[in-house]
Amino acid sequence: MERTLMIIKPDAVAAKHIGEIVARVEREGFLVSGLRYLSLSKEQAGEFYAVHKERPFYGDLVRYMTSGPVVVGRLERDNAVDHWRSVIGATDPQKAAPGTIRALFGTNIESNAVHGSDSPENGQKETDFFFA
Ligand code: RTP
Ligand code: MG
Repeated sequence: MERTLMIIKPDAVAAKHIGEIVARVEREGFLVSGLRYLSLSKEQAGEFYAVHKERPFYGDLVRYMTSGPVVVGRLERDNAVDHWRSVIGATDPQKAAPGTIRALFGTNIESNAVHGSDSPENGQKETDFFFA
């Protein structure tokens, strides 16, 4: 069974959307095989998004991801990575398809409510990062 990592980001936790997002996850046929409420350290957030280290938004991204608690989840189903990305929508909530989680709960290209892994390899790596 394929795995992907969900993060309910600080903006969506603060806006009290945890329940609605987890309900959507289950309606989409995922098994939630791990779920944690935690605060990322600067080091964890920086390591998690290390692929973006050279991008101009990296500093802001690390600040945002450490601005409050998050919920991380290990989601399992067939085609988990692609399916979850289709459920969350485009990075920029303004461009996300109607009904996607980012269209419903995202604010802007940074504060976009949720994370999803971008490949099955990273889905395994990222879920191992939080659910060792
Ligand atoms: P994620 O990794 O969080 O699921 O998001 P993604 O694949 O859709 O987008 P990615 O390019 O990996 O960017 C990671 C996160 O960085 C923030 N971001 N800010 N200010 C900006 O231009 C900008 N661009 C991206 C977002 O929080 C994005 O989800
Ligand atoms: Mg990404």
